[in-house]
Amino acid sequence: MNRLPCNGARRSGPRVLLCHGCCCGSPRKNPEINHAEQIVEISSVARTRVVDCVGECSQSIVVIVRPGDGSSIWFGGIDTPAITSVLREWLGAGAPQPMPPVLQSKVFVRESERVGVGT
Ligand code: FES
Repeated sequence: MNRLPCNGARRSGPRVLLCHGCCCGSPRKNPEINHAEQIVEISSVARTRVVDCVGECSQSIVVIVRPGDGSSIWFGGIDTPAITSVLREWLGAGAPQPMPPVLQSKVFVRESERVGVGT
């Protein structure tokens, strides 16, 4: 998997890890999106690193946003041009809260964080 360096031109604002691993990066699994264009679109507005599988393949395409407050927001199903555009606009605005409802519907809790829930 190709890894792109962080875009050092942006010193502030949200950071993004964009998974394009075995499932997220698969045109067969995610045929509605042009993967190369998605990378360009997201990296045009936020410091972006393309990463291999982050272990949540059932949620592909996975995008992890670090707004800069120490938190990480995990998004799944960023697999169409329309949702990618919404994400790009939100990132370009600095990832403010509240986020657009359509993006909120894509937030998920990682499997490793679900373990132990209710115990
Ligand atoms: S390939 Fe993206 S989570 Fe596995």
